[in-house]
Amino acid sequence: MNVLVIGNGGREHALAWKMAQSRRVKRVFCAPGNAGTAADGENVPIAADDIAGLVRFAKDNQVQLTVVGPEVPLAAGMVDAFERERLRIFGPTKAAAELESSKAFCKEVLRGASVPTAEHRAFRDAESAIRFLREREDMPIVVKADGLAAGKGVFVCERREEAIDAVRQIAQDRIFGAAGDRIVIEERLHGQEASVLAITDGRTLVTLPPAQDHKRAYDGDTGPNTGGMGAYSPTPLVDEAQLGWIEEHILVPTIHAMKRMRRPFRGVLYAGLMLTHQGPKVLEFNVRFGDPECQPILIRLKSDLVDVLEAAALGDLDRLDPPRWDPRPAVCVVMASEGYPGDYTKGHPIRGLAEAAQVPDVKVFHAGTTWKDGQVVTSGGRVLGVTALGNSIPLAKLQAYTAVKCIRWDGAWCRKDISDKAAIV
Ligand code: AMP
Ligand code: GLY
Repeated sequence: MNVLVIGNGGREHALAWKMAQSRRVKRVFCAPGNAGTAADGENVPIAADDIAGLVRFAKDNQVQLTVVGPEVPLAAGMVDAFERERLRIFGPTKAAAELESSKAFCKEVLRGASVPTAEHRAFRDAESAIRFLREREDMPIVVKADGLAAGKGVFVCERREEAIDAVRQIAQDRIFGAAGDRIVIEERLHGQEASVLAITDGRTLVTLPPAQDHKRAYDGDTGPNTGGMGAYSPTPLVDEAQLGWIEEHILVPTIHAMKRMRRPFRGVLYAGLMLTHQGPKVLEFNVRFGDPECQPILIRLKSDLVDVLEAAALGDLDRLDPPRWDPRPAVCVVMASEGYPGDYTKGHPIRGLAEAAQVPDVKVFHAGTTWKDGQVVTSGGRVLGVTALGNSIPLAKLQAYTAVKCIRWDGAWCRKDISDKAAIV
């Protein structure tokens, strides 16, 4: 069969790479892809948000399974458009994707299903949000734009004035546009963060091994927020018993609630969790694989990913054997462009990729890369996700950084402490 991956990041390279290993797969297309997906599959020059163009491509090229990487095309109705044409696709419909594209909707679902999460209030205008903030005690609080804001729509505030300023930026200055039509204000939670992802067909869940992302730019979780500077899996912060608890009290009730609301959820349900003293609480849901969490998770998958995603798309997950995993943990270190997550320049030739590929148990997933004049050059902020397996987390980390040292370009940098938080358990 032919398969199509939509998107152009590290997550999409990992998906394309893994699906290319399936004995059932003939061609792996990636739209628009990067230099890595061009090596492990075939790139198609169609943008990830060109729904009509992608439907046409899937029809014309006998694509039997499409997988959507990023949230924006899901929120725009990519899955609905494919299903109207009877094309098989893995991911939630537009209505189900609201779990990520509207934080206020997500909070309603969580509250209705009694899933543990921060206390919150939702507002439609700045005045009422500011009145609420002034009426309560001056204490740390979190202000969020309701809609999709590429991970930038969250303000964790120490003081009331900071929170009021965040409300004004979102609702009056409209820095996130229509994503700021509603505002969610919530209690600030404390603890370690972890990502628990499950593949679901709307009834049956396959929970994946837990992962931990590193959202801040610099070592020791300092600096600005990013899309994610590295991840590892499984994380000992969530043990087997806790994973079972999360399944039972967070994932399953959410899937059931979505079904009751006639928005059956198919695809990846990704719970961003805060591990608090009172137990895990949901910070947010995403409706897709995490990037970079997808990279260390998929490098450990021994089963055929196509079987799993296809069963989820068909509603057949209960008939599938549980996926098999490499017992070794994996660590993914993101190498980024100078200036990221702020402004950065592109087009720098990347050296040492062939040497890095020689390091045992390593796969270099590409994110912001492209081919230019016969060489691989940078084309984004997060450029590579250097991912390694090892007999322990420290050994996987060592292996990943051994490969990182082989790679260089003008301005390349990465965090040096990816996976260190595993040691505090
Ligand atoms: P979100 O996009 O909702 O996951 O938020 C992005 C980041 O903001 C999270 O990864 C947390 O680090 C932080 N955050 C979000 N909500 C809260 C909260 N209620 N308490 C503390 N930190 C939060
Ligand atoms: N790693 C965070 C995300 O994918 O949203």
